[in-house]
Amino acid sequence: MHYPWWYVPFLTSPMLIAIISVLHVLVAHYAVGGGLFLAVETQYAYRYNHREYLAYLKEHAWFFILITVVYGAITGVGIWWTIGVASPLATQTLIHIFVFGWAMEYVFFVLEIVSAFIFYYFWGRLDPKTHVRIGWIYAGSAWMSLVLITGITAFMLNSGQWPEERTFWAGFLNPQFVPQVFARTGGAFLLASLYVYLHATFKAKDPALRDLIAARSARPALLGALLIILGGIGWYLALPESAKAALIAASTLNILVVLIFAVTIAVFFMLYLGPYRNPGWLSPGFAILFFTFGLVAITTGEYIREAVRKPYIIYNVVLGNQVYAEKVPELRRTGYLEGGTWTKAWVAHHYPQVLNNDRIDPAQLLALPEEDQVKLGEVLFLYHCNDCHAGRRGFSAVAQLIRGWTPDMVRTVVEHPEKAHFFMPPWAGTPEEAELLTKYLLRIAHPRPAGMYFGEEK
Ligand code: HEC
Repeated sequence: MHYPWWYVPFLTSPMLIAIISVLHVLVAHYAVGGGLFLAVETQYAYRYNHREYLAYLKEHAWFFILITVVYGAITGVGIWWTIGVASPLATQTLIHIFVFGWAMEYVFFVLEIVSAFIFYYFWGRLDPKTHVRIGWIYAGSAWMSLVLITGITAFMLNSGQWPEERTFWAGFLNPQFVPQVFARTGGAFLLASLYVYLHATFKAKDPALRDLIAARSARPALLGALLIILGGIGWYLALPESAKAALIAASTLNILVVLIFAVTIAVFFMLYLGPYRNPGWLSPGFAILFFTFGLVAITTGEYIREAVRKPYIIYNVVLGNQVYAEKVPELRRTGYLEGGTWTKAWVAHHYPQVLNNDRIDPAQLLALPEEDQVKLGEVLFLYHCNDCHAGRRGFSAVAQLIRGWTPDMVRTVVEHPEKAHFFMPPWAGTPEEAELLTKYLLRIAHPRPAGMYFGEEK
């Protein structure tokens, strides 16, 4: 590991990625679907010279720009900041493999921003044909952004041929690419309609206009729900074996999968019975309920998509604790502390006595005073485990997980985490380092809860 550690108490730093990403994704899909909505609907309103609808669309375009360009761009940059410090090795790897993809994405991003501003600020000053054309340029470049980013993020879940054939296209056209483009395009359609309903129920005053909007946006939303289901099935089929196993083994994920199916089906029927068959039903309350369901479904979907990736951040390439999978055997021989630029420097600075020919001597580590061994155990914990577990308390706190365990049990988990749970990365240090980490864990472990003693001594 060639980066310093970002310690975030209680939450753990990768959870910050999850939070900012969900906040971003809820708008990023609207940025794509809403662009299509604006292009298609302004074209329709011009064709039938529907002045009221055009006026509404202009108002929607302002809302759209505020939400997608301002909020979307800020959270998008926020993702880069967060992944850069919380998950530097994986970020570095994705940048190196996909330089060309990021460059293309940047071009489309600039096109998006420029066309969105022209579309809104030159409203009424361009002839209808050019105006609609700008709308389509926006929609096309926004969808291309979706395709490019999906290729790269899908790679993280199943890197496919890449570890054997290390080329851009082998990585980009990974098995998860097509299913995820389907699901995300569907998500863009569906979410855009939900945003439109939310906006229109408050802003479109004329009931006839509201009914028109409700009816016209129902079809893309229904199509979106179908694409999500199709893409979801493809996503499942293209999962690596360990991800399928994780989905089946983890009880939280079982529940979430049922939840997402239930919510998607509910949204589908609500759409069909509401806006599609009975546009007049669409009230602000209905729109808010719809929108909430959409947010729940998308958030849950993203959570599941991410959760099954363990023990990897990038499948077969970077492990969940920022270690290259191929480096594990070497680290087991030479030591985790020796293998990391920052851990090595830290040890050399604080405990020069453990160095032997400028290398950390594992045997010397166990000759240190007990308190120093615990301290080194904490360093190992932060680098090796803190990506997924808080320490004493917080998200999946390890001190809670090992409540009341015997020292042998703790030591076994430390030496073979991947055998305790296949979704934990393997131990990547020497047996002596495992001893240090065990000492630290036993120091912070909570006692067994009261009442959990069955005639034994505490
Ligand atoms: C890539 C993520 C990840 C990393 C890194 C990781 N774990 Fe885990 N670990 C998990 C998950 C997920 C679980 C299951 C949690 C649950 O059931 O709540 C788990 C469970 C555990 C448990 C409970 C095991 C049981 O049988 O109930 C212990 C103890 C544990 N981890 C210790 C560690 C230690 C020590 C390290 C570092 C050497 C570590 N983990 C690194 C993901 C990880």
